[in-house]
Amino acid sequence: MAIHWDAATREWHLASGALSYALRVGEGGALLGLYAGAPIAAGRSYAHLGPRPFAGFDNRLGEPVRLEVPTPGSGDYRIPALVAEQADGATVLDLRYVGHAILAGKPALDGLPSTYAETDAEAETLEITLRDEHSGVEVVARYSIFAGRPVIARSMTVRNAGRNPVRLVTAMSATLDLPGSAFDLVTLGGTWARERHVVSRPLVPGRQGVASNRGESSHEQNPFLVLAGPGATETTGEAWGFSLVYSGNFLAEAEVEPFGTTRVRLGINPETFGWPLAPGQAFTTPEAVIAWSGEGLGGLTDAYHGLYRDRLARGTWRDRPRPVLLNNWEATYFDFGAPRIVEIARSARDLGVELFVLDDGWFGRRDSDHTSLGDWVVDRRKLPDGLGALAAQVEALGLGFGLWIEPEMVSRQSDLFAAHPDWTVGIPGRPLTEGRQQLILDMSRPEVVDHLFAVLADVLRSAPISYIKWDYNRHMTEPHSSALPPDRQGEFAHRHVLGTYELYRRLTEAFPDILFESCASGGGRFDPGLLAFAPQAWTSDNTDAVERVLIQWGSSLAYPQSSMGNHVSAVPNHQTGRITPLSFRGKVAFFGTFGYELDPGSLTDAERAEVAEQVAFYTEQRDVFQFGRFLRLRSPFEGDRNEAAWMVASPEADRAVVGAYRFLSRPMPTVNRLRLRGLDPARTYRVSLWPSGDDPLAAANVGLRGGDELMAAGLDLTLTKQQTQASHDFRAWIFVLEAT
Ligand code: DGJ
Repeated sequence: MAIHWDAATREWHLASGALSYALRVGEGGALLGLYAGAPIAAGRSYAHLGPRPFAGFDNRLGEPVRLEVPTPGSGDYRIPALVAEQADGATVLDLRYVGHAILAGKPALDGLPSTYAETDAEAETLEITLRDEHSGVEVVARYSIFAGRPVIARSMTVRNAGRNPVRLVTAMSATLDLPGSAFDLVTLGGTWARERHVVSRPLVPGRQGVASNRGESSHEQNPFLVLAGPGATETTGEAWGFSLVYSGNFLAEAEVEPFGTTRVRLGINPETFGWPLAPGQAFTTPEAVIAWSGEGLGGLTDAYHGLYRDRLARGTWRDRPRPVLLNNWEATYFDFGAPRIVEIARSARDLGVELFVLDDGWFGRRDSDHTSLGDWVVDRRKLPDGLGALAAQVEALGLGFGLWIEPEMVSRQSDLFAAHPDWTVGIPGRPLTEGRQQLILDMSRPEVVDHLFAVLADVLRSAPISYIKWDYNRHMTEPHSSALPPDRQGEFAHRHVLGTYELYRRLTEAFPDILFESCASGGGRFDPGLLAFAPQAWTSDNTDAVERVLIQWGSSLAYPQSSMGNHVSAVPNHQTGRITPLSFRGKVAFFGTFGYELDPGSLTDAERAEVAEQVAFYTEQRDVFQFGRFLRLRSPFEGDRNEAAWMVASPEADRAVVGAYRFLSRPMPTVNRLRLRGLDPARTYRVSLWPSGDDPLAAANVGLRGGDELMAAGLDLTLTKQQTQASHDFRAWIFVLEAT
């Protein structure tokens, strides 16, 4: 890995070993992209890959030039990276090269989560400074590469080095100009309870993309997009990934211009942003992580999973096996008392569960979602001896004790709202829109963050708590802070996110042994920003196993399975009313961090025995389920959408677990072979089915098989007509492969 600078040609070549990124200073001083993609040799000039030299300043062109920090109004009509309104009202900037620095390692971004290097040898960073002489606006364009990884992390700092005020209207984290437009745009969309479904469509001329203006990254769209090249599959073809390390309003879009090139940009959504910079002030954007793959979507997944699991997530729990938990939410909702909780915890313990999580309803007078958010004081009506005593009882059973909180919210019916109505997000004198009967605290106010830290730290000190589920249950309305003057309200949405990050930072640093799981009505903030603080997230409130296959598949494009909280819940499912077998639910939830969302006391003896077997199997294979390489095999978004399959493999490829799912039983099935991936072709694997026993697929698959055969010919999932007739809906198979 190295970042090369050639002073003669004024070119940089960032070479990670798995990706090359070349750029240069144009004749007029603009920063021009030359190449991005598969590794190419260092030590050569790639100036010929850029646009042919034009007369005049490079930025004043209508031609498809590759610009690194495009700005509007001087001939480039595509989507800009930076729009800065100057004292004279103009937004035209002539950003010209001033200098650069090449740094070992990777600097942190002030107040913002970002990927990191553990040693200086792991990463290298290029910071290029550009300046507009007229306004004094200075831009530092930042590029970090990681040894052996096909990724480049980008961010930008804009400084007002002039004498007059400037207002940022748009400040993207990255743009990338690609010389072509034959791509499919793949995004992860949906809504509450069906987050991150894969949505794919060909790029067309003009602008297209996804965004959030809900105050959070959102259930509806994820801050992530893929450009998949012609014919790209899971394993072949070129693909680009664009991921934003941010939890608030974002924009991720592509523009195909008339000459057939594509510009991608991603960053804070300009629709809810406006940032004044007084002389001397600076603004740093969140980080964007761009990944390149020559091996299809699977290559992108490998890149993001590795980086986000190992160099975005951090802390004590980053690499530690995550406990099997049981959460009481769907078992009790708000209706519980200490004896019931202890009873649930005891029966969970008897099944092998390792951690009990007390969800919503333990504080204030919270008998429904109408009250008490903000009053983080234990409800003695429900827990007369307090949290400490309850946690001690749960611990005495041999379980860890976890607790639910929702820090950034307040109920109208709460002591906190009565004491500090101005701490609520909203426009003074105008109505407040409620969501789930609650209001949002103004996290842009430091005193709110200080208060929340103090009261939550008290709670965490009051009991032996080893896990926190941090929820956030509504979208933002009336985005406005009564602490900011009218001309600075454009800062609010971002400052709110920064306040959340600050609270996360303080609590995770003060309580490093606690495992934090983020949540936002399920997956409303399932994004890289929160992953930097909480190494796992509640994937979705939808625990229906059929729905979960879709959600987990989509999420897996960018997010490692160690970040996905997957639980088995009761049937009929509380979100869909669907009844699926317990075995099917377990076999879907295994591929992530695993747990239960039910009352074990309501299960039959046979079901309890089955749960105990599931827990035992999961804990035996926990390392591959949580930290193994995740490989998608058969998409539930393709074909007749009736099947799916994926697998996890150990880093040495000496162990793997395959999950194959069939939703509805259909007559007269066709031949069905499932090719595996990620095995060692030279090794022999012992293939078994879990659980062992009578299974129509055992005869054709159980035994010794070569890795080459399993990847070329595959497992045999074919059922006969008779086997199908004896079958039922919602079948899943788990194959375990161990190298001999
Ligand atoms: C939404 C979460 O996603 C649920 O799991 C649960 O914690 C509820 N909030 C509690 O209010």
